[in-house]
Amino acid sequence: MLSLKSTLLLAASATATIFYAGVAESGGEFGAYSATGVNGTGLPGRFNVDYAFLNASTVPIWVKQNKINTFRVAFLLERMCPLEYGLGARFNETYFSEFNDAIRAITSAGAYAILDPHNYMRYNDPSQQPGSGSIIGNTADPAAATTAQFQAFWHELASRYIFNPNVIFGIMNEPHDMPTELILANDQAAINGIRTAGAIQLIIAPGNGYTGGHSWNQSTCAGCTPNTQVMNKLKDPLGNTAIDVHEYLDSDFSGTHQPCVQSFPANMYGLTQWLKANNLKAMVTEFGGDNNNYTDSSMCVEYLTEAVKYMNSNPEYIGWTAWAAGPFWGSYSPCCEDYGSYGSLEPGSVASDGTPGMYYTVWKAIIQPLVPSALQRFGISSIYGGIEF
Ligand SMILES: *[C@@H]1O[C@H](CO)[C@@H](O)[C@H](O)[C@H]1NC(C)=O
Ligand SMILES: *[C@@H]1O[C@H](CO)[C@@H](O)[C@H](O)[C@H]1NC(C)=O
Ligand SMILES: *[C@@H]1O[C@H](CO)[C@@H](O)[C@H](O)[C@H]1NC(C)=O
Ligand SMILES: *[C@@H]1O[C@H](CO)[C@@H](O)[C@H](O)[C@H]1NC(C)=O
Ligand SMILES: *[C@@H]1O[C@H](CO)[C@@H](O)[C@H](O)[C@H]1NC(C)=O
Repeated sequence: MLSLKSTLLLAASATATIFYAGVAESGGEFGAYSATGVNGTGLPGRFNVDYAFLNASTVPIWVKQNKINTFRVAFLLERMCPLEYGLGARFNETYFSEFNDAIRAITSAGAYAILDPHNYMRYNDPSQQPGSGSIIGNTADPAAATTAQFQAFWHELASRYIFNPNVIFGIMNEPHDMPTELILANDQAAINGIRTAGAIQLIIAPGNGYTGGHSWNQSTCAGCTPNTQVMNKLKDPLGNTAIDVHEYLDSDFSGTHQPCVQSFPANMYGLTQWLKANNLKAMVTEFGGDNNNYTDSSMCVEYLTEAVKYMNSNPEYIGWTAWAAGPFWGSYSPCCEDYGSYGSLEPGSVASDGTPGMYYTVWKAIIQPLVPSALQRFGISSIYGGIEF
């Protein structure tokens, strides 16, 4: 006879695909970039002036009106762990409590929150992100934080959320241009830190090449091993880790150009096959397209629709968050708008000319109608969608 657990797993794998769907909240990492490259610019930064995590008043708009259940919340490691403390278990409690207010606003509304250190696997100098700062675990760089420090950081952060079933641990935003084996080592250290803290919630682990789905089977830097040969070696004693993927639709997959020219299904094909072969799941925590204003050169409605439908219908994908909302975008666009400022996915968003912003022209028009109706509404975050494992 099947155990209850197997029955639930069978039910989940037969019917379900997307358990977690929503938006990325970008803003907690703002204010550190310096056009002049001055180290430490924007640190520690001023809350609600240089950075902010979330407008809590938008949570019911997202959850009740837009029917989403997931928010990815970015923060900056150099603010959570000030340079004078170093990366590790000692936090700036002021910054943590500002971040934690955002997480609590989300999870107390019954939604899930992905904790997102937005650091590209670097620590110590965010002034020129994504390129600046020392690579975590690079033993050839005396300024670099160690893999053990990264583990201590995650152990501490996870220990603060053991009793909140609605968090998801996003190990790191977009590692790139470093040995893929070091990403594996750092991801594994994070998993070990989280599990030894006693936290059992879902973990999502990134690969190399800005964790791009299209290049999962390619070498993304000189001499770098493709993710396909490395990222299946991750070990989670609870089996509750999924792969964290980003995928944009413009010419160079960066999400910085307006025309959508990339077929998401074709570009994700290799990754999907690899997930299947390795019995792994993935969550796409960044994707996006423009508002189709330049209809002669933009196929974004078509390509974005196809992208969301692909994730919704392939059971290797358990969740997605669109890039991006956040309280500080103003008329600037987080995605795909090199021709102008068309606003963001933030509710109430306006373009620079005062017309409706991308919350209306992209989220409401294209993505929201594709939010699956049967999202996870309770239970510990997991690759099975909140079912106890
Ligand atoms: C927060 O969001 C609410 C609802 O969209 C909006 O009315 C309010 O102006 C926002 N506050 C700030 C400071 O952006
Ligand atoms: C901690 O964060 C607060 C709020 O941003 C800031 O005012 C303070 O200077 C920070 N402390 C350290 C040690 O960075
Ligand atoms: C900024 O920090 C980096 C280490 O991340 C260091 O290599 C560089 O020399 C520093 N630049 C200045 C101007 O201090
Ligand atoms: C590599 O990935 C690409 C993009 O998804 C796919 O078209 C191709 O078939 C993959 N190649 C192999 C050998 O899996
Ligand atoms: C963008 O397209 C939308 C929808 O067609 C339209 O309402 C808006 O005025 C356009 N905005 C700009 C800045 O062209």
